[in-house]
Amino acid sequence: MKKILIINGPNLNMLGTREPEIYGNQTLSDIEKLCEQTARTLNLKIDFRQSNHEGEIVGWIQQSINNFDGIIINAAAYTHSSIAIHDALKLLKCPIIEVHLSDPKTREIFRHTSYIEPIAHSVIAGHGAKSYEMAIEKISML
Ligand code: DQA
Repeated sequence: MKKILIINGPNLNMLGTREPEIYGNQTLSDIEKLCEQTARTLNLKIDFRQSNHEGEIVGWIQQSINNFDGIIINAAAYTHSSIAIHDALKLLKCPIIEVHLSDPKTREIFRHTSYIEPIAHSVIAGHGAKSYEMAIEKISML
């Protein structure tokens, strides 16, 4: 059974109340349940985590080496700023999929650059919680 690590970055713990007009009404726990369901139907095992701390995310990525078959990451604001997360992801040999609830490329200019995109197999953005489902489906085929 393939094991997939799903990493969520800063402020995603506030989903549900955080700018619902952009991110929707679902909480991160709702999204986790959706991911669990999707993974079950595809016979995958997921480990779903969230952190507001860049260093903790870097640590999780380092520890995932040889322990997971794929990584799905919504690095949230760190997407647009973190060379440390970019460098850590470069240590991995497994496929990486970048996800976003919104589509950062259609928002403020400071969200147009992603430090994850150059090393990601694909980017799935703009479908709300469904972006996660789509990412799990995609990674199951890689
Ligand atoms: C986000 C988009 C980022 O630009 C933003 O900083 C987030 C959430 C998304 O899922 O749409 O926190 O990653």
